[in-house]
Amino acid sequence: MYLGIDLGTSSVKSVLMDDDQQVLASTSSALQISRPHSGWSEQDPESWWQATCDTLDQLKDSHPQALSQVKGIGLSGQMHGATLLDKNDKVLRPAILWNDSRSEAQCRRLEANCPDSRELSGNIAMPGFTAPKLLWVQEQEPEIFGQVAKVLLPKDYLRLRLTGEYVSDISDASGTLWLNVAKRDWSDELLGATGLTRKEMPSLVEGSDVSGELRNELQQKWGIQQNVVVAGGAGDNAAAACGMGTVSAAKAFISLGTSGVLFVCNDTFSPNTQSAVHAFGHAVPNTWHQMGVILSATDSLQWLSGISGKSAAQLTDDLGDVPIPISEGTFLPYLGGERTPHNDASARGAFAGLNHSHDLKSLSRMVLEGVAFAFKDNQAALRQAGTDFDAAFAVGGGAQSDHWLKIIATVIDRPLLLPKGSELGAAFGAARLGLCAANGVDPEQICHTPEIERVIEPISALQAQYQQNYERYQALYPALKEAI
Ligand code: XUL
Repeated sequence: MYLGIDLGTSSVKSVLMDDDQQVLASTSSALQISRPHSGWSEQDPESWWQATCDTLDQLKDSHPQALSQVKGIGLSGQMHGATLLDKNDKVLRPAILWNDSRSEAQCRRLEANCPDSRELSGNIAMPGFTAPKLLWVQEQEPEIFGQVAKVLLPKDYLRLRLTGEYVSDISDASGTLWLNVAKRDWSDELLGATGLTRKEMPSLVEGSDVSGELRNELQQKWGIQQNVVVAGGAGDNAAAACGMGTVSAAKAFISLGTSGVLFVCNDTFSPNTQSAVHAFGHAVPNTWHQMGVILSATDSLQWLSGISGKSAAQLTDDLGDVPIPISEGTFLPYLGGERTPHNDASARGAFAGLNHSHDLKSLSRMVLEGVAFAFKDNQAALRQAGTDFDAAFAVGGGAQSDHWLKIIATVIDRPLLLPKGSELGAAFGAARLGLCAANGVDPEQICHTPEIERVIEPISALQAQYQQNYERYQALYPALKEAI
């Protein structure tokens, strides 16, 4: 038996998987975000730990026998978050998350401090990444910065609580901006640009390697009968890729979650910083990936749901089966800034071109289209980086809406593949890495592509109208940039 634990932004999810990679059970526990100022996004690391324990306690109640047989755990998590610890492992302040945009000025300072930063890291300094957050703390909260003994990514903080070890994996460490991604090792130069050294960093392992063992008292608490190894694991996107078998060149998936991600696997390190493409190490040795990131994907629909009082599912259900491109009206999904392709933390969302006939359904259509156009922008950015794909798996909460997937498939002109079985996300990918670590198996032998249940094909009759709408969308950001 193996456990996959995914520390998401809105919940922790744990899955219990057997030796044949069948998911026996899955539990989750909700998390809250705190936004004390515009553009800030924070969580208390203690709430991650409590939620993790909650998911495991639930598994102990529902599947005590299976849980007792666990021999490997894989961790996955929201990327980039800065968890700051003092020399006694005390958390110094709330963790600053991936979708926090406060450190825009620090990104410029970081690139000035280290003019080779784009070459070394393969990435632009973006406020979502960890390094600029630390520069912000150094500048704004120097008394806290002075006490920092370790900086851990969210899932690596869970690992510390689970095993007592300070370890990260290559895929997640790629999002810190302290990693030399080509060499898969920390860069002293990049660390130096933030006033840090290797001493404050965890050690590094590949995602499928052993990073430590579950503490004895936790093994007993959850009734596990043998020693349990904890794998390096992965950032949530690389973990989802492992779940989806996206581990060889040109395989792709889109994730329609809080953030939207277009993920394509590469067999070489292929950076392209022009359009804010992320070039990261994969959770599989000697493999890399490129990624375009939309900061507010389902988050945009969630926002409309919050102000309209209708659930996100109701909003999409109200639109029926077949998408109808809207003839007027455009939504920019930049509620909390945008990464790919604009790298603009100050960008903001917009509804434009409203008329008297527009109602809530029209606004829903604009939101779904706006996010689909953001995916098209990401596809173009990856293409500029020399990467294309024939079809992509679709995962994430938003992928439950066929309507939304039909719009995205049509707009990006690629079939979207829906995997058979609903448990193939990041937690499942993490469980696969736990299996690899516990048995010393090569992840490429384990991370198979799932069976395809359904294919959502582009609807060619709608493409001309969506193309017009996309052109309207593309014109809006530069037109509004100076005004908002
Ligand atoms: C990736 C990113 C997000 C988070 C969401 O760069 O910031 O996808 O990992 O959990």
